[in-house]
Amino acid sequence: MKVLRTVKEIRENLNNLRKEDKVISFVPTMGYLHEGHLSLIKYAKKNSDVCVVSIFVNPTQFGPNEDFNRYPRDEKRDLSLLESESCDFVFIPSSEEMYGNDYQTFVKVKKYSEILEGEFRPTHFEGVTTVVLKLFNIIQPNFAVFGQKDAQQAFIIKKMVNDLNIPVRIDVLPIVREVDGLAMSSRNVYLNEEERRQALALYKSIILAENLYKKGERNPIKIIQKVKELLSEYPLLKIDYVEIVDMETFDKANNMIDQKKYYLLLAVRAGNTRLIDNTILRV
Ligand code: PAJ
Repeated sequence: MKVLRTVKEIRENLNNLRKEDKVISFVPTMGYLHEGHLSLIKYAKKNSDVCVVSIFVNPTQFGPNEDFNRYPRDEKRDLSLLESESCDFVFIPSSEEMYGNDYQTFVKVKKYSEILEGEFRPTHFEGVTTVVLKLFNIIQPNFAVFGQKDAQQAFIIKKMVNDLNIPVRIDVLPIVREVDGLAMSSRNVYLNEEERRQALALYKSIILAENLYKKGERNPIKIIQKVKELLSEYPLLKIDYVEIVDMETFDKANNMIDQKKYYLLLAVRAGNTRLIDNTILRV
């Protein structure tokens, strides 16, 4: 496994492999890796000749009052996990390497960066799409792998790739959960014992919504209301939003038809920690 920190080095290494027609896969991360990340890396590794993982806590996707400075970091542990997955290349640039030298250019997927997560984190997705486009240009992978955990992020990246004719395939893999159901996230380490206990309500509300849907409920307002009622029983949780959107368009669902698939999207604060989760509602 090679660990590279400059654009020049990773380009030189990958250019030779690309000439040999090797299939290159790419998994962008912000590090502090868990089984969710590793599931993407296993898939990337299995379906390509060369697997590249990036670790970069991207400053441009954090708002001024968000957790950039305290975002968990453990490079040594991450590298040993990547080594055990037989990852081929790890790209770990510094902020200077990515944004030094009078950085000015941002790419924004307009409408979809302003709704849902974008309402609560107005500059977030612009930072995500900018860094992901830069990473795509640096690595030039055949395909890149993202998690359904961040469903809106995956949707926006697919949109960017389509709108800008970027020659990369985007694969999205299911959410990996702790044994009790909490969606894995690097940010879960912020939770204290009681917050961690109450955070399970997100998973409980997903199960509730899935069951209502299975029993034939097709009115999104009713499902959302029941989910909100469940979440409101947990005093440490504050709801940012609960929404049901069409999976293909991210438009809010008015009525749900069996021919379509929908995301139930949840964003909840447990103390100072923002948690997001989702599930697909489909027949
Ligand atoms: P990060 O939060 O580190 O996540 C990296 C990738 O892992 C994302 O595609 C995310 O959806 C996926 N992931 C996180 N938790 C998961 C889980 N429990 N199950 C499955 N996949 C999971 O997302 C980012 O970093 C950044 O925004 C990034 C795309 C790297 C741009 O900076």
